[in-house]
Amino acid sequence: MSLTGKVVVVTGGAGLLGREHCGAIRDAGGVPVVLDLNGTPSCDVTQPAEIRDFLAATVATYGQIDGLVNNAARNPKVEDGDGFTRLEAMSLGQWQEALDVGLTGAFLCAQAFGSWMAAHGGGVILNIASVLSVVAPDQRLYRRPGLADDAQPVKPVTYSVEKAGLLGLTRYLATYWPTVRCNALSPGGVFAGQPPAFVADLASRIPMGRMARADEYRAAVVFLLSDASAYMTGQNLVMDGGQSVW
Ligand SMILES: NC(=O)c1ccc[n+]([C@@H]2O[C@H](COP(=O)([O-])OP(=O)(O)OC[C@H]3O[C@@H](n4cnc5c(N)ncnc54)[C@H](O)[C@@H]3O)[C@@H](O)[C@H]2O)c1
Repeated sequence: MSLTGKVVVVTGGAGLLGREHCGAIRDAGGVPVVLDLNGTPSCDVTQPAEIRDFLAATVATYGQIDGLVNNAARNPKVEDGDGFTRLEAMSLGQWQEALDVGLTGAFLCAQAFGSWMAAHGGGVILNIASVLSVVAPDQRLYRRPGLADDAQPVKPVTYSVEKAGLLGLTRYLATYWPTVRCNALSPGGVFAGQPPAFVADLASRIPMGRMARADEYRAAVVFLLSDASAYMTGQNLVMDGGQSVW
């Protein structure tokens, strides 16, 4: 469970879980490198030229890259209310924008950083999926009183598609470069100040009876990035309090 001296690029590393991944890498002796729209330098995972520049800057600064965490995504937040577009109303542009970040972005980063690692002794890729990579969203969770059925907010179809797609990417990459392992981590919902009624409703659908704390994925991230998982590739580690087994 050691990442001593390992340089790991974390996309979306400035976000809620990205910060935890970076903290976990640092605590295990590694060097997290934040790749984010809000990072320094800023980098957009949908822009190949920006990724190439980021890779060159990372190699120039640290001399090596040992891991990539594909974590960036547009995850609509219940408390914001944005992005809960119904399937009938979703525009092609909305579909493409979401998949560009959560799926195409992961491909572009794997292409750049994975190729570099394969050519320089190997490495590890970790794709952050979701419990919604293996089960459909329970749309009852997002219902708002007083709205007609066809006006109810829903977890968007793009989220399910990009997370299921990440599992395909995970298996593909796992067999593509013999020296680059690739696994997925599928977290369940993290408590981050969502409305109490939503939290209670979601908790009632989770066997462990609660949402996750943001720091509860740290050990899994270190496990999947380190030699502790040296003989594991192409797998999806689901950590969801049991949500997907009900
Ligand atoms: N929070 C949860 O409950 C939860 C549960 C399961 C899975 N996940 C997954 O974990 C990952 C992180 O989620 P989070 O809750 O920390 O989200 P977040 O919104 O807090 O963080 C996402 C980060 O990605 C960055 N980002 C967005 N678009 C980008 C782009 N084009 N290029 C570079 N960076 C970009 C954002 O700036 C942000 O810092 C996501 O893949 C999400 O789907 C989250």
